[in-house]
Amino acid sequence: MSKYFYPLVENPFSNDDIKKGIKVLKSKQLTLSYETRSFEENFKSRINSKYSLMVNSGSSANLLALQCLINPYRKKRLKRGDEILIPTLCWSTSLWPIIQSNLKPIFIDINSETLNIDESQIKEKISKRTKAIMLVHVLGNSCDMDQIMQIKKKYNLILIEDTCESLGSKYKNKYLGTFGEFSSFSFYSSHQISSGEGGMICCKDKTDYNIIKSLRSHGWSRGTSFENKIYKKNLHLDKRFIFFNSGFNLRPTEVSASIGNNQFKRIDSLIKIRTINRKKIINKISKNKFLRKKIDFYKENKFVSPSWFGLSVKILETKKNIKKKILKKLEKNGIETRPIISGNFAKQPAAIKYGFSKKEKYPNTDKVYNQSFFIGLPSRKINNNYLTKIVSAFEKSFK
Ligand SMILES: Cc1ncc(COP(=O)(O)O)c(C=O)c1O
Repeated sequence: MSKYFYPLVENPFSNDDIKKGIKVLKSKQLTLSYETRSFEENFKSRINSKYSLMVNSGSSANLLALQCLINPYRKKRLKRGDEILIPTLCWSTSLWPIIQSNLKPIFIDINSETLNIDESQIKEKISKRTKAIMLVHVLGNSCDMDQIMQIKKKYNLILIEDTCESLGSKYKNKYLGTFGEFSSFSFYSSHQISSGEGGMICCKDKTDYNIIKSLRSHGWSRGTSFENKIYKKNLHLDKRFIFFNSGFNLRPTEVSASIGNNQFKRIDSLIKIRTINRKKIINKISKNKFLRKKIDFYKENKFVSPSWFGLSVKILETKKNIKKKILKKLEKNGIETRPIISGNFAKQPAAIKYGFSKKEKYPNTDKVYNQSFFIGLPSRKINNNYLTKIVSAFEKSFK
């Protein structure tokens, strides 16, 4: 039993999801096959991406995007030390694939209202070596995509969208994750849909798609557009096992794919329920004379129709260590909390250990980390009793 009456995530699986998973188990076909391909097809036609490949996590999707960018089969590949712009408020595996691909991350502070990259600070960070920008769409929100696309065009930058927290969000009626050359999605438990573990990578270019396909499966040519050409040059080899590229094994299981695929059919209703729940909580707290002086909520950016990942909360009191005290009380009173992603990643011990954290300051990210946190959003409709319980737990925690 969870110690929380309001956990980050309640059971994300319907009976039907479980049935679908069991059916796959019974079929004994657990490795990549029909279910994965079907999910990829449904995903790509639904969000309108050119190519989609399912992987075992959102982190793997980010890794594949960056590994594709340095791949020798790519016409224009990035070189060691090329720079990638990234917001300081990111997840660890939004950042690490950049370093693991021998590229250089250049941090940019966020806008403390949208929680996304501060568009106005991008240009000053662009140098001759800047080749790409890794956006992180935070908790269902996004930055001003019009500005990003203008900058992208002007400086000829590749765009990677880490959409792991924002499946289903749209900017001017276009799904996030369809603006850039690459995008990643996560289906980890607390996300908009869940396959337990799982993710999707989308891309726009056929060669990139085939490179990623080979990287996902050991670097072999089987099932890629390279297959015949490579075989013709290597007739002495077994066509099924020709390793022509670098590789990983980042494939999902069929069980995850079947569950993810089944949930994906309900994406609209899941988004709707989360949106209604969020509104109900905000309304109830905003009507509370005590709480409305203590907290505020982050809103969606202009032109964004959000698919909320969680409910992000801003503590209005600015006393030192206030957040720590409040979170401790909320947790004690049954509400599970999370920081806004990693906070300022440049301050994480890993960034310091690996020496890519400079002395530069990122005040907006620090401010958000010090004042804010988020709680989950249930994917079932919540009732008035439950709402009263939430508000009462907040009241107790802020006193
Ligand atoms: C912004 C962001 N990127 C990447 C990931 C990694 O996704 P996964 O847990 O599926 O590896 C997460 C995880 O929540 C995330 O929040």
